[in-house]
Amino acid sequence: MKDGNKSMNAEVIAVYPNKVKISVDDLSKFVSTDEQVEKLKVGSYLEISDDDNHKLIAIIESYSIVIDEKKPSERSYIIEANPLGIIEENEFSRGGDFLTIPPTKVLPAKYEDINAIFNSRIKEKERFCFSKLAQNKKIETPVNGNRFFNKHFAIVGSTGSGKSHTVAKILQEAISKKEGQYEGLNNSHIVLFDIHGEYKDAFPECNYVEASNLTLPYWLLNEAELEELFLDTGDRNNYNQSSILRRTIIENKQKHNPGEKIHFGTPTKFDITEVYNCLYNFQNETTDYRDNLCIKIENEEKQCSKIEEKYLHFFKKQYTFEPRKTSKIKGGIYADGTLDKFIDRFENKIFKKRLNFLFGDGSRDSSFEDTMKQFVGYKIDNSSSDQNITIIDLGGVPFEVLSITVSLITRILFEFGFYYKKYFDGKEIICETPLLLVYEEAHKYVPKSELAKFRASKNAIERVAKEGRKYGVTLGIISQRPSEISETIFSQCNTFLAMRLTNPDDQNYVRRLMPDSMGNMTDTLPALKTGEALLIGESIEIPCIVKIDECDEYKPSSNDIKYIEIWQEQWKDVDFTKIVEEWKK
Ligand SMILES: Nc1ncnc2c1ncn2[C@@H]1O[C@H](COP(=O)(O)OP(=O)(O)OP(=O)(O)O)[C@@H](O)[C@H]1O
Ligand SMILES: [Mg+2]
Repeated sequence: MKDGNKSMNAEVIAVYPNKVKISVDDLSKFVSTDEQVEKLKVGSYLEISDDDNHKLIAIIESYSIVIDEKKPSERSYIIEANPLGIIEENEFSRGGDFLTIPPTKVLPAKYEDINAIFNSRIKEKERFCFSKLAQNKKIETPVNGNRFFNKHFAIVGSTGSGKSHTVAKILQEAISKKEGQYEGLNNSHIVLFDIHGEYKDAFPECNYVEASNLTLPYWLLNEAELEELFLDTGDRNNYNQSSILRRTIIENKQKHNPGEKIHFGTPTKFDITEVYNCLYNFQNETTDYRDNLCIKIENEEKQCSKIEEKYLHFFKKQYTFEPRKTSKIKGGIYADGTLDKFIDRFENKIFKKRLNFLFGDGSRDSSFEDTMKQFVGYKIDNSSSDQNITIIDLGGVPFEVLSITVSLITRILFEFGFYYKKYFDGKEIICETPLLLVYEEAHKYVPKSELAKFRASKNAIERVAKEGRKYGVTLGIISQRPSEISETIFSQCNTFLAMRLTNPDDQNYVRRLMPDSMGNMTDTLPALKTGEALLIGESIEIPCIVKIDECDEYKPSSNDIKYIEIWQEQWKDVDFTKIVEEWKK
């Protein structure tokens, strides 16, 4: 290229802390002789060496043509590359400040060197692999499995970019990995919140929980969840509703758990039908005009000595009261019509067929232990068997209770991890059953929005994001709209898989996660192919674009409706009555 070194085709012409400029005379000769290395592209790896035998690996960021004005027919090429790290004795380490100036040689990186970047530093025991380098499918890009699962991770991408497929692949790998020879299940524990019912096909052996077989006891709801469920935040009489609801539930919990210290959100049993009876009676009661404790039940006057006795009496059944015909009988303090809407809503909820999983007899009578077992895959009776993965299909859960359903299950699982650790505290702090909670379409439960309807699930998941790691409870957050998810959650994630993203706000969001020197890798986000992802974070040596391995046998079911094919079929009759019946349930 220059005088004195005619054989040199490519030469480093500038070195900056985070950039190397290379001039190439003849691109057709600047190719790898290594058959296992694909042709050079933006994103390919180069190796730059100095006289001290150090090898710097850099990734091509851009390429341009230089036209010499004096000799317009001659051209040379400038390649700009970002240094990634050094390879020494076949081991890669990050950082590029070991190269002495001037660098002497630059070549396309060899297969074994690219392989060393991703594979040289991971111990076999920690290795967890579900993808290959997008530029070279022969190179595996494993993550450090301990780091990947120990801290929260996120998978983001526009619709159809391959998020669900990626989730399925990662979880399939996790539940099939075994150390040594043993029969049966490994010790992985995964709970997947599946909003579209698409994962059953990917895990035919899973513990499948859906609205029809879910048992989620209402008596485990905490204060915020109970209020969210029953109170109307927009109602002017909210304070009245809130105070009567609190008092009635506390009194009922006291009735069923005598001697215990109770408050509104204590997770102890109570009877929701009794609470309803009581509310109904308060709504309709009449009393003696001088004495609130003298209740005018039809044909039976009931004199209570204190208010607690009135509650106990009201729990029993719904009474008919004497009408307010004379001035000696007056309406009770809550019987002024202000509770009507609230009690209607209460009744509607607790007797709704679709909410049977929450208010049915099974939920009332279920134990805390069985509820917990149901979600962590341990068998409850002999009809079921233990499972590594529990899929909670939220498809049949009505929208109005989605947030509290997710919140309650999340809290139960967090408490499981929390008390498991506490239980061992006396001896040794360990977590024998680390849990992973995966949320599909997470923007639906943990949005940036401060609206009350999201408060319960947001609080519960944010708590896991902040404290879960210490107790062996990790989050996997999946979303089409990263920019719409609570910052608290994302700031706690340590590994990101960013798939194709078309929305500029979302792209910017991911750009902020990248180290400055590699920021322009995110420019490829809108152009990623289905199944490709930018893998960033603590669990991988350097950020890179990977292709997620395809699920071999079982895949999540796609919800795509084959419109044009169905439309071509003959006109179909529809059973509207059935649809309406389903709706009313
Ligand atoms: N790694 C992959 N290898 C091969 N095919 C893939 C891969 N990832 C996804 N696909 C295919 O691409 C299609 C869309 O994938 P997927 O359903 O996972 O997208 P998604 O991001 O979850 O979409 P949505 O946001 O709508 O749920 C599927 O048909 C799937 O089989
Ligand atoms: Mg999906």
